[in-house]
Amino acid sequence: MILKLANTFTRDEEAGRAVAEYRAVTPEMRDFLFALIAQRGAAHQDDLLTRLVEAEVDGDRLTQEEILGFVQLLLVGGQETTANLLNNAVLCFIENPAQLDRLRAAPELLPSAIEEVLRYRSPIQWMPRATRRDVEVHGGVIPAGKLVLPMVGSANRDPNQFADAGRFDITRDPNPHIAFGHGTHSCLGAPLARLEARIALADFLERVKGFELASDEPWEPRKALQVHGPSRLPIRFTPGRRVTASL
Ligand code: HEM
Repeated sequence: MILKLANTFTRDEEAGRAVAEYRAVTPEMRDFLFALIAQRGAAHQDDLLTRLVEAEVDGDRLTQEEILGFVQLLLVGGQETTANLLNNAVLCFIENPAQLDRLRAAPELLPSAIEEVLRYRSPIQWMPRATRRDVEVHGGVIPAGKLVLPMVGSANRDPNQFADAGRFDITRDPNPHIAFGHGTHSCLGAPLARLEARIALADFLERVKGFELASDEPWEPRKALQVHGPSRLPIRFTPGRRVTASL
């Protein structure tokens, strides 16, 4: 269900199915979580849900609805994004074999390679914002109270910010991408996502010495406007390319 939710911004049959599935499971999830919340309220446990139930600011606690919304945000925002980051990394390595060789020869470049994947194939392509005041952008004015869609994926390829922006370069430094957003509401899970990617990709590259796109089966992008990544990425394991050191 979560994976399909990304499709809801398109308008085809698949999107219709995803919305219907989402509507069907929402009450189920609600009942399930409300029961868990009651359980955590009764007996303290060392987990995230208990902390949300017990969190208090100036005597105010979160309502059940707020906790439900937060947990839904964590599930969708924390799972699908990182899954796409991993898939996008594999795709970037397949498309740029010389960069992969470079990474295998210098494994300490992995964190920098992950930042470049985040920039080059940003898992989240835009985030909605509402203007609280008139905002001037490049000589034009967006009036207060308007809904705008800042294009994260486009900003991350801005030639005014990134030299040779269309090139995938795992040594790019500095790399001031905004794949995790910007400002007060920038991604709460960014350190976790980076950690997950470092563990998963190091493990993948260690175990799989060679891989390529299965040429008879093309990869397919997700039919989603906001979430970017392959919906299908058939790869074939190969004996591996010769490099000076291995990851
Ligand atoms: C590659 C993985 C991820 C990407 C690309 C990503 C991207 C983003 C973006 C673009 C935003 C919006 C920022 C803004 O509006 O300025 C955001 C917000 C958020 N993300 Fe992530 N995210 C990722 C992983 C995660 C993970 C693993 C978690 C938690 C388990 C998480 C939790 C959140 C939360 C709670 C917010 C809302 C923050 C707020 O409104 O204050 N994200 N993320």
